[in-house]
Amino acid sequence: MTDPILPLREELDRIGGKGLLRSMHRIDGMQGPIVKMDGRDVILMCSNNYLGLAGRTELIEAAVSAAQKYGVGSAASRLISGDMALHERLEHDIAGFKKTESALVFNSGYHANIGIISAIADGDTAVLSDSLNHASIIDGVRLARARTFVYEHRDVGMVEDMLGSMEGKGPGFRPSRKLIVTDSVFSMDGDIAPLREIAGLARKYNAILMVDEAHATGILGEHGRGAVEMFGLDDGVHVQMGTLGKAFGSFGAYAAGTKLLTDYLVNRARSFIFTTSLPPAVCAVSSKAIELVRQHPELRKALGDNIAFMRKGLRDIGFDVSDDPTPIIPLIIGDAERTMQFSSSLLGKGVFVSGIRPPTVPEGTSRLRLTVTAAHTREMLGKVLDVIRGMA
Ligand SMILES: Cc1ncc(COP(=O)(O)O)c(C=O)c1O
Repeated sequence: MTDPILPLREELDRIGGKGLLRSMHRIDGMQGPIVKMDGRDVILMCSNNYLGLAGRTELIEAAVSAAQKYGVGSAASRLISGDMALHERLEHDIAGFKKTESALVFNSGYHANIGIISAIADGDTAVLSDSLNHASIIDGVRLARARTFVYEHRDVGMVEDMLGSMEGKGPGFRPSRKLIVTDSVFSMDGDIAPLREIAGLARKYNAILMVDEAHATGILGEHGRGAVEMFGLDDGVHVQMGTLGKAFGSFGAYAAGTKLLTDYLVNRARSFIFTTSLPPAVCAVSSKAIELVRQHPELRKALGDNIAFMRKGLRDIGFDVSDDPTPIIPLIIGDAERTMQFSSSLLGKGVFVSGIRPPTVPEGTSRLRLTVTAAHTREMLGKVLDVIRGMA
């Protein structure tokens, strides 16, 4: 008898044969605009540490003092004995920041999306989902066993056609509930969902609207509350999901909305119910990060300036780069192998940008996903542009 685990090797070999084998790149020391890899300093151009908070002293101190006071683990789920003062304080801080009635913390954005969607949607629900939504949204819809209607990326007309077809008298699916879900800033493309139009359709067709603000929270909007703030949609979005592990430099995620929403999720979101809650120190870090984002608008300004500088610099080199105010800048190469070669040549010249290949992005759109942070200096960004120019 052959070892039953051996077929996994064939599967891996198949992935490798297509040039799609994934591997990790170890970073030594702290996250920052410059990191140590293999003993040398490189400029980090692919992290989501958008405001440079992950290594910030105030957050480190918040972690240390919370660990000293509350210990390092919560030792249970929130509904058993893992609901600690710092979890509730963080939820209070998130709701205050987002200007919502309530907020509920999840252990990660992945947990949040699979938990929220599978709690709200079931087999009688139509979920309308952008074709470039994050994998955690896709997995949430799968878990819900909902009827999925994937619309072309940012195609509002298609959303309206789908919703209209659910109302007609002819044959077709008549859902008991409709949920529209979209990233606000798309994680691999850095473009922004047409939220105003989508919110209008949600209102017109009486659908629940859920927006994933993972890459917008702390960045977009006058106060950094996200794309919902930027578009003035505070009353038009039922579920605002966001993460704490990107611009906030911490870890975890949340759903913000009404008390009805969070009460419901406490009772129905399995990824909230059946998991040990976040360590209290992580909650303390997130609360401190929210405070810093509120107190230091200059971080957002520095990020915005760096984004504009980098996008213009790349356009000047000849790349097709938009002027979206987001820190995610895709340089589409197309072929997966060439993308990885480009990435490793950049690393050889002291710039780390990981290559993104299928299945994370559609076939033929492999890319370097460049991200800019507030912590990059102009000198660093200038060097990155010089290196890319030299290779383009
Ligand atoms: C749009 C989007 N949603 C959700 C997630 C998941 O968040 P987390 O990394 O906290 O699990 C990510 C990030 O990876 C993301 O890009």
